[in-house]
Amino acid sequence: MAKEKSVKEIEDLPGIGPTIAEKLKAAGYDTLDKIGVSSPHELSELVGMSVEAAKKAVEAAKTATTLEYSTGTTINDERKAIGRISTGCGELDELLGGGVEAKAITEAYGRFASGKTQLGFQLAVNSQLPVGKGGLGGAVLFIDTEGTFRPERIESIAKAAGIDPKEALEKLFVVRATTTEQQILSLEKADKLIKEHNIKLIIEDSLMSLFRSEYPGRGALGERQQKLNGHIHKLQQLADTYNLAVYITNQVMDNPGMLFGDPTTPVGGNIVAHAATTRLYLRKSKEDKRIVRLVDSPNMPEGEAVMKITPNGIKE
Ligand code: GTP
Ligand code: MG
Repeated sequence: MAKEKSVKEIEDLPGIGPTIAEKLKAAGYDTLDKIGVSSPHELSELVGMSVEAAKKAVEAAKTATTLEYSTGTTINDERKAIGRISTGCGELDELLGGGVEAKAITEAYGRFASGKTQLGFQLAVNSQLPVGKGGLGGAVLFIDTEGTFRPERIESIAKAAGIDPKEALEKLFVVRATTTEQQILSLEKADKLIKEHNIKLIIEDSLMSLFRSEYPGRGALGERQQKLNGHIHKLQQLADTYNLAVYITNQVMDNPGMLFGDPTTPVGGNIVAHAATTRLYLRKSKEDKRIVRLVDSPNMPEGEAVMKITPNGIKE
């Protein structure tokens, strides 16, 4: 039997030339996985090939699909190797299981002046510390949707952390986004920047403000959530691909359905709730103290830590 040619691209599938491949991609069948799980009938209808030929293409796509099964031990080892960024506050690091985790999305929500942005500044500096010394030894992409980025604050935090303030700013790539389109594009176009500058932390401050102002009212909610979903998906994909940490801030509203307890709820609905690996609720306390509550984590118990916003940054 003649050796079958190895299938790496959609174009390599039997019976599928460049034209059909283009049609498939345009219809959303843009990976071998997607074709491998589709029905020959829908493919045949879509691109006008015979069902028999479509069957062969689907089978070949399924065969070419690579899926790895890992043991729990392997995953355990891999998880231990995932880097973390210190928050500057030991108690908070402990609450998080060692700091803000790479390959994951950490969300901080809370009312104004609760410290969401300040924590972001601290992480932007600490991310640059060497691995094993509280950082990931990498640069930072900062998406500023509220116009609250303050270089002078970064300088003082960097100085206190023992990093040359000038260098700290050189390793901070800031995008001031004023529309959701700019916000979305700042991630869509980020791959090159991330690779060239070894970016290890992406900060979005804040995730929802532009989405909320551009899509007011219930009527626009579906469209908003759809766009938001794609954007968050891209965040997680960048985190996985480049082994980097993601820190997003989020606004809050009062949940009118809550009769007891604290009605403060992060905005963005289920899409944001599901996407955030770890959720932190920040609350103002006396003077410079802030209470940080871990409300959602895949592996750490709920709990609280107290952090301080000091002239030198986030501290115990
Ligand atoms: P919003 O973006 O308005 O929703 O609030 P936020 O949660 O981002 O608050 P932010 O992180 O900006 O925290 C504001 C608090 O940090 C204020 O109460 C200030 O007292 C404190 N703060 C801001 N800048 C400095 C600073 O340079 N030095 C010190 N010591 N504290 C600061
Ligand atoms: Mg802020």
